[in-house]
Amino acid sequence: MTKLLMRALAGETLPTPPIWMMRQAGRYLPEYRATRAKAGDFLSLCYNPELAAEVTLQPIRRFGFDAAILFADILLVPQALGADLWFVTGEGPRLSTITTEADFAKLGTVDDIHDTLSPIYETVNILSQALPKETALIGFAGAPWTVATYMVAGKGTKDQGPAHMLKDENRDLFVRLIDRITDATIEYLSKQVEAGAETVKIFDSWAGSLRGQDFDDFALEPAKKIIKELKARFPDLPVIAFPREAGDRYIGFAKATGADCVAIDNSVSAEWAAKNVQVDGCVQGNLASSHMVTGGQALVDEAQAITRALRGGPHVFNLGHGITPDADPDNVARMIEAVRSA
Ligand code: CP3
Repeated sequence: MTKLLMRALAGETLPTPPIWMMRQAGRYLPEYRATRAKAGDFLSLCYNPELAAEVTLQPIRRFGFDAAILFADILLVPQALGADLWFVTGEGPRLSTITTEADFAKLGTVDDIHDTLSPIYETVNILSQALPKETALIGFAGAPWTVATYMVAGKGTKDQGPAHMLKDENRDLFVRLIDRITDATIEYLSKQVEAGAETVKIFDSWAGSLRGQDFDDFALEPAKKIIKELKARFPDLPVIAFPREAGDRYIGFAKATGADCVAIDNSVSAEWAAKNVQVDGCVQGNLASSHMVTGGQALVDEAQAITRALRGGPHVFNLGHGITPDADPDNVARMIEAVRSA
């Protein structure tokens, strides 16, 4: 019995899509909040293999999702490269910034990352043995551009201004930063696969702020390089790419990068994606996460409309972005029921 997620990623058109949710292990679940408190804080949770595996399993137990996503964060890679990283409650991540040659020179090399990241591989290893046999295990990393936006600015930004400035003022330095992250990401994801991840997802949350040649250079090319190298090492590994808010650049993204599945956000419709993206393979998405807060008939109608719109080809049901802390867990159960009965 092949797992539902793996079948969809392989290009199979299924009567009912596999379902999972971005940030499915998170603050909207009381059991997550309890385990995080036990760990002390978010980063301690990420680096504690037993507890990170536990929070990964919580939404599987509660909802029976078809896939589990490793519990970690995209900003662990910068930390493993030597950046300082901390989380300010209610505000988000903070990092030491990379804006000069001197800052860049202080970063570690690709070979250094496993010292920091080995607990993450242990989490994957625990999960690969603890998950129900029908549940697929997804590893992940941030895409180089998105990770770079945090490394340059030292925090999340609305318009990714600092990264755009460095890219435009000192492209040579910026390219070397992107290359360092790209190489680290290849090694990080390879270790996750060796530990038992069955597919990996590359999160490019800020791809939508790149235009024209910049999109090619910093969203498309790094994804292509990562996927090419992963497939050379693991020929059967399917890869999910998420160039969020790429708009019309979603068209052809799978072909250009070698991704097996493209995840779409809420700025495009499922009908549009069926015509323009699903022609090249599997599409993942794209219920608005606000429905997980508001629920009701609108949630059921929209979940079923998306399921039907993408039913003519390979589809993985998901949200268009992560579930938010104010979501009602009962709405998650309702969503799953709506999709499976559509
Ligand atoms: O999806 C999952 O359940 C797997 C785990 C996961 C987390 N972050 C856990 C997390 C994944 C895949 C991510 C990806 C991630 N992290 C992205 C890309 C996807 C996206 O959301 O656009 C980005 C940009 C980050 C960086 C990050 N981590 C930010 C900006 C924040 C603060 C915002 C927030 O939601 O609090 C985080 C924290 C974070 N990462 C939390 C979780 C569960 C919340 C931390 C907490 O428990 O306090």
